[in-house]
Amino acid sequence: MPYLRKIITDGDPTLRKVAKKVDPAELDDPLFQQLIDDMFLTMYDAPGIGLAAPQVDVSKRVFTIDLQDDDPAHGPAVVINPKFVDTRGEIEATEGCLSVRGFVGEITRYEFVAVNGLDRNGTKIRLEGDGLFARCLQHEIDHLNGVLYIDKAKNVRPAQIEEEVGTAEEAQAEARADANRESVESGASG
Ligand code: NI
Repeated sequence: MPYLRKIITDGDPTLRKVAKKVDPAELDDPLFQQLIDDMFLTMYDAPGIGLAAPQVDVSKRVFTIDLQDDDPAHGPAVVINPKFVDTRGEIEATEGCLSVRGFVGEITRYEFVAVNGLDRNGTKIRLEGDGLFARCLQHEIDHLNGVLYIDKAKNVRPAQIEEEVGTAEEAQAEARADANRESVESGASG
C-alpha cells in the first residue's frame, strides 16, 4: 500500500543536490515502484500537480505530474530520467512550490517544452505541451538539478490573496502572465 512521504522544505540539503540518474534495472525493484506510488499519493494529498523525488528526500531523477482538473488532457504520468528535447518561446507567470510553502513569485520559463524519459515500466515516453503543463515539467526538472524556483524568481513574497495561496501549491503556478490576473480569480485552481 502506498503511504504518505514527508515533503522536505527549503534548507534541507537533499533539495540542493543534483539527483542521480535511475538505472533502468531499478524499475524491477518493488521499492522503486513503491516510491512512485507513494509520490502520487503524497502529491495528491498536498495537494499539488507535480512532485519530484528529491522533495520526498530521495535524490533520484524521477517526478510525478497530474494537472488534474486544470487540464484533463494531461493526466497522471511519472517520468524517469527526463531530458528536454525541444524548448520554445518564453513566458512569465506566478509560481509556487510545496517545498517553499506559502510563497509565490514571478518566473520566466519556456512557453513550450518536449521532454523524453522512461515510464515506470521502462518504456520510452515523450511529454510535450505549453501553458501550465510546460511550466510544471520545467519546475520538476529543476528540482532534479537542485534548483528551486526562488533561485530564479523575482518578487518572491508570502502568498496573501486566495489566488496566490492556490498558486503556492506546487507549480499551481498558473501559466498566465500577470496581466491576466483578474481572470485567474474567477478561474479554477485551488
Ligand atoms: Ni516545487
